[in-house]
Order: sequence, then structure tokens, then C-alpha cells
Amino acid sequence: MSSRSLYLKAVSCNLCEMASGVPEIHFYENELNIRRAIEQFDLQNLDPALNICDLSSLERKLRLWQKLLPRIKPHYAVKCNDDPVVVKFLADLGTGFDCASKNELKLVLGLGVSPERIIFAHPCRPVSHLKYAKEQMVVNGTVDNEYEVYKLHKHYPNSNLIVRFKSAAKEALCPLRDKYGCDAETDAAALLLLAKALDLKVTGTSFHVGSGCSEVEAYDRAIEKAENIFKCGELIGHDMDLMDIGGGFPGTDDALFENIADAVNTSLQLRFPDERVQIIAEPGRFFVETAYTLICKIHAKREVRNKAGKLDTLMYFINAGIFGAFADYFYYPEEVNPELYLEDAETLPKFKSVIWGPSCDSLDKISGEFLLPNLNVGDLLGFRNMGAYKMPIASPFNGFEVPETRFFRKK
Ligand SMILES: Cc1ncc(COP(=O)(O)O)c(C=O)c1O
Repeated sequence: MSSRSLYLKAVSCNLCEMASGVPEIHFYENELNIRRAIEQFDLQNLDPALNICDLSSLERKLRLWQKLLPRIKPHYAVKCNDDPVVVKFLADLGTGFDCASKNELKLVLGLGVSPERIIFAHPCRPVSHLKYAKEQMVVNGTVDNEYEVYKLHKHYPNSNLIVRFKSAAKEALCPLRDKYGCDAETDAAALLLLAKALDLKVTGTSFHVGSGCSEVEAYDRAIEKAENIFKCGELIGHDMDLMDIGGGFPGTDDALFENIADAVNTSLQLRFPDERVQIIAEPGRFFVETAYTLICKIHAKREVRNKAGKLDTLMYFINAGIFGAFADYFYYPEEVNPELYLEDAETLPKFKSVIWGPSCDSLDKISGEFLLPNLNVGDLLGFRNMGAYKMPIASPFNGFEVPETRFFRKK
């Protein structure tokens, strides 16, 4: 069964049943060797494409987080990769969770995670989702405008309101500045006052600097705004004790993560020295991006020649594209680097090459200009760091199936 159908099964809320259908986890020693996995599982005959997920990489990421950000409890952002195996693995390691919808709540709660480990971090929630959170006693949730405050007053007055404000990084792969978050200077105080007038509890504040943030200073700027909102909330009479610094942490660049962690720790020491304030974060990409390698197969090929008949470009068509496992390339095309599994790839002559996804849409092109040897139909291409914001968005457009996932773990 594909991990996607497992997910659908999970959210149709028969999670006990799902537990017995969990895919097999393959164990490896020392390091996960993709070439060996290809031979072991006969991936040469692969169709559709296949994700190889190294669960141990999630554990390594958690240890790195705990070492560099010991005060901050990570609440994994389920939207980033909602494969039940991944979510369960993190649940067993003891992380908290950021859920954005009723189905994400169902998935996480169904794995036995207690509601206190969850933040319902969506500031504009449908009433049916709020009612579900109330039934399940998931009390912490974000809010960023007065309509939502009234909605909570009507449907979930005993919940804890976390005021989300805007504070965008100057550089991020996926900026989040337009859609959510109130203005920290002009709107936050009004929301705090309104909540007080309606006898609602505001217990904290949150922000998201943008996914894939590469501006280290962005966090301090946001934490400074959070400090002001805390002071304002306390003056109004709210018992503020939760600060949620959102996501945005890099998935692949550990040196950048270390710099961000230093900046965050310094800022927290200065602005939130009181250890009674609980600090949480909502990392998504940080945990899962490096855990996945996507293995694709070339199923068709074309030679493009110039008028003189000389070879100009080689075109390859593979079994995953931007409507499938490369889904987020549509939003922020990053160049990818295909890995080859040929013995003599380094020494073979290279040609200008284009890689297309399988659908009929001409947008369905994998970004980048590639110099590759003359490959054959049936050859495999590997793409590393494919764990974040791919599979939850992937669709079977044109009838091309989304990849399955095989799970590996260090012995
Ligand atoms: C509210 C919220 N929290 C957390 C995340 C996860 O962000 P990242 O993957 O950058 O850590 C997102 C991503 O869009 C988000 O919208």
C-alpha cells in the first residue's frame, strides 16, 4: 500500500487499523547506500518513481535541534510531510506537532499524541475544524484578526489564543508575509483588548519568518516584536506564557542553522530571560528535507539537433514531475542536481540535457541546465533532499501516479 493511501486511511480515522498496515522499515548499517538499495530492491524496474526515506536522519535532526536550541520545544509542522510513518517516528521521539486542519489533528491524535503536544497553528480556521479541536481538547491555537476572535468566542471560548503577527525575513524560499499575521504595531493591541473584553485568554504570540529563511537577523527582529506584544498583553491582564517562533529553519544547510540558532538563543536570553515562558517552534523543512531521496527512471528520450544536424540537446522524460514529486518547484524553482548510478558516469562525455516530467504540460520541466552523459531509457536518476513540501502537494495529474516511499533506518 502506498504511503499516500495509508494517509487517507489514517485521516478517515481508523488509525489503529493503520498501525497494523504500516510499511516495512528496512535496516541498514553505518550509512544508507542508495546504490545498494537500488540493487537490493530491484529499483531498476521502478515504476512509478520511488522515495527512499531515511528515518534515522529525522532522529539526527532532532538531536541537532536539542543540542543547539535546548530551550525550544519543536512542534513538527505536519503540512511539510504528512506521511504517517514520518509523523509516527517523530511522535515516538517525543516532538510536539503543529497541525493546520482537522485532518492533520486526526492523524496526530490518532497516533496517540496527547492534545497538549499540539498547537493548532492556523489563524483562520473553519468552524468544523475548531469544533473538532474543542472535542479533542486541543486548546492552543493561533489567531490574527478580530473575526477569528469572535469566532473563537462563539465556538471555543475556553481555548488559549496565540496572537500571530507578521515579521518577514528579507530572504526566504517561500515568503509568508501576505496571507497571515496581524501587524505587530497597529493590530496586536486591539486583538488583545478585544479578547479581554470577550473574556478570552490570550496566552502567547507567534510568527513565521518565511519558509527556507536565509536571513539570520529575521528571528531577532520578530522576537523583539513578540516581546512588545507580551508586555502589552500582560498590561491588559492576559497571562502570557507561550512564545512560538514558527518555522523557517533550513533543511540542508547545518551551518546556517547553527548561525540562526545562535541568533535565536542570544535574542531569547535578552528578551525572554524568564524561563517560565515556554518557547516552542514549528519546524517542518528542517526535519524532513534531507531524509528523502527520490529515484526516478528515464522512460523516454529525444535528441534535439540544429539545422546542420548536429546534436544540440538531449531531452529526457522521467516518471516524476512538477505536478508530482517535484510539486513545490512550481512555487520556487530551485535547481536540482541529479545523481547518476552508472559505474563510469564521471569519465563519460557530457551533453546539454533537459529533464521533463511525464505529463503533457510544457510547464512540467525540472529546473536547471544539466550536463549529463548520453543516458538511456531505463537509466535511473536520483534527487536528494526531496522530503519537504513535495508529497503532500503531489497529484496524479494526467494519470501519472505519485511516487511511493520505502522507509529505511539505521540498525
Ligand atoms: C504556520 C506555519 N508553521 C510552520 C510552517 C513550517 O515552516 P518550515 O517548513 O519553513 O519550517 C509553515 C509553513 O508554511 C507554516 O505556515
